Amino acid sequence: MNPSATPVAQSASSQSLRRSAEIRKLFRDLYGGDCRLFRAPGRINLIGEHTDYNDGFVMPAAIDLHCCVAVAPTANRAVEVYSTNFNESRSFDLDQPQPRGDWSDYVQGVAIMLEKSGYHFPGAKMLISSEVPMGSGLSSSAALEVAAGVALLDTQDTPCDRVQLAHICRRAENEFVGARCGIMDQFVSCNGRAGNLLMLDCRSLEHSFLPVPEDARLVICNTMVKHAIAGGEYNIRRAQCDEGVRLLSCVVPGLSALRDLSPEDLEQFHELLPSTIYKRCRHVVGENQRVLAAAAALEEQDLQRLGKLMAASHQSLRDDYEVSCPELDLMVELANVVEGVYGARMTGGGFGGCTVNVIASDAVPEFASKIASAYEARTGIVPEIHVSASPLNSNSRFHQRSVALLRSASNDHAQIV
Ligand code: GLA
Repeated sequence: MNPSATPVAQSASSQSLRRSAEIRKLFRDLYGGDCRLFRAPGRINLIGEHTDYNDGFVMPAAIDLHCCVAVAPTANRAVEVYSTNFNESRSFDLDQPQPRGDWSDYVQGVAIMLEKSGYHFPGAKMLISSEVPMGSGLSSSAALEVAAGVALLDTQDTPCDRVQLAHICRRAENEFVGARCGIMDQFVSCNGRAGNLLMLDCRSLEHSFLPVPEDARLVICNTMVKHAIAGGEYNIRRAQCDEGVRLLSCVVPGLSALRDLSPEDLEQFHELLPSTIYKRCRHVVGENQRVLAAAAALEEQDLQRLGKLMAASHQSLRDDYEVSCPELDLMVELANVVEGVYGARMTGGGFGGCTVNVIASDAVPEFASKIASAYEARTGIVPEIHVSASPLNSNSRFHQRSVALLRSASNDHAQIV
């Protein structure tokens, strides 16, 4: 993160070149020999929270914080992997998958799910270095999965497209790691486009890109309270949504996910639902509508309207879905009284992590210093404030090679570095 809250655009490419050189050197020191280097971004979600696994709509964006994976093939069907973040090595056998309950499960899970999808790896040495803060709601796990997936794919010859890779990475998290996440994080890490929000229909996977208005910035405020979505609450919310669908499917024809439920049907039949299930459904139904309204507001460059939708989203996540926490609520409350702020809300799974803020560009420096000192004064915690570059950073010089590797569309985010 960039605690100084200075826009990072100008120095981003030289920083990333320095980082690449450091990772290559570490790889040589650890394993000997050369490597190839890949990276995938974390994400923020502007609006559309806990809607992806209900077949609904989301509006995330890739951010300029990445997970880098260096890789070289071996021939022994073993994968050795070192994490600079944990300062730990792990190894696993591609023929005998065995979850260990730690960070390496994301890598092992992706390798195993790629093999189940028909890819075959000789074996690999890998080194991982991520700048996406963990447990912060910025999807460090999807960034790791996608970067590891792209790196592993480089050790074999069969092409894989970006949508397929997103599915495989999600499957790794659902079936190997045990978190029942939706497709949003992996999809945007594979397909995000610099400077744009990704409007995604999580049922059809139809998507479009919405530019972030020139005079606005997306600012991430990290409460520094860690969450763990693999832990129970996330899966409980999913089960509650499934229960809502089950209870209403006998009275609402064609209801296969909360995406299909209209606000009118929900109100008409709400007595069939226990109150907690009703509140969970109300969040999802309302949030889907807010995403569609936010897309229209962005198209009209109506940032005031966008801000109101973000406020309603946060309130619904706090009161109906109950996935916020006092620190997130405080960060949003503090942001809302700073001049130049259009909107603020929690982003990601919740229970800690970050808020996303839409702010007039010229108000950003003052916002960053005001919110950091106010949050610290109230909590005793020093937050991290990250300002996305203008509005999000890209590294397009690497496009050609990554496109060749994945045989996919241009201007994307998971790439060779
Ligand atoms: C986590 C999951 C996503 C999504 C969000 C909440 O980030 O990985 O699939 O459900 O929470 O919107």
